[in-house]
Amino acid sequence: MEYANLLLEKNGAVAVLTINRPKALNALNSDTVTELSTALDELGRDSSVKAVILTGSGEKAFIAGADISQMKDFNCMQARRFAQLGHSVFRKIELMPQPVIAAINGFALGGGCELAMACDIRIAAENAKFGQPEVTLGLTAGFGGTQRLPRLVGAGLASELLFTGDIIDVNEAYRIGLVNKIYPLDTLMEEAMKLAKKISSRAPVAVQLTKSAIQRGVNMDIDSAQAYEAEIFGLTFSTQDQIEGCSAFLEKRKPAFEGK
Ligand code: HXC
Repeated sequence: MEYANLLLEKNGAVAVLTINRPKALNALNSDTVTELSTALDELGRDSSVKAVILTGSGEKAFIAGADISQMKDFNCMQARRFAQLGHSVFRKIELMPQPVIAAINGFALGGGCELAMACDIRIAAENAKFGQPEVTLGLTAGFGGTQRLPRLVGAGLASELLFTGDIIDVNEAYRIGLVNKIYPLDTLMEEAMKLAKKISSRAPVAVQLTKSAIQRGVNMDIDSAQAYEAEIFGLTFSTQDQIEGCSAFLEKRKPAFEGK
């Protein structure tokens, strides 16, 4: 499918989804968020895709936030609906079968930081900058930032970032656990692809079930989460890949997973 504000490319089992509004530093307007929703549905249904990389177009920004020029004239109802649209679309990333890696190539502000936080793994370029500057605009974070940031970095650090609107560099983002790795900008996509290909080489059903255990379990109490993990662990023993993976280990050879 063709998108006006996104690029969707495939490289073997890896899909690369690029937010493509570089003149506006990839700011998220409602059309772009709606297209993102369609693209995520398309990818979620595509069993040939084993991992997804999400990035921004150009060398300056991942996403500089929700589109301020569109939001400026919102009334309360439109603003609430826009937040709810973002909530449902970003949640799709967490609930879709494939792992999603955010490759953060510059500013990840407001809705951009929130989108990165909805991804399973975040890696970033040396020029990346992060923040939730909504309070400098008279807004609150509205695409999940008040919820995902405290879950990722703890309530104290999240409160400081959300109350001040301060923008932090990539080293600070790494220090507080917002990103896993830092790379030079010109190797970021190569490194994202290496990681995505490594994940794609693992038993696909096991990877999908692991994602589900993490994403669903993190919001459960520990006893329910462990019960869910045991269910999932049991399920892997109905797959060919479990037989192949364990046999390959014992036979001292590489497994050939088929994703079933
Ligand atoms: C609309 C944006 C934009 C945004 C940048 N642009 N960010 N347009 N919405 N979020 C546009 C600029 O208007 C400008 O357009 C072009 O992109 C280049 O940006 P500059 O500001 O000229 O670049 P620079 O001076 O390098 O500054 C980069 C920047 C700055 C620091 C990232 O652009 C900035 O502060 N952007 C806003 C960041 C922000 O506050 N984000 C949070 C938004 S609220 P022209 O036409 O002039 O070239 C949010 C809420 C989420 O995300 C929840 C919603 C429910």
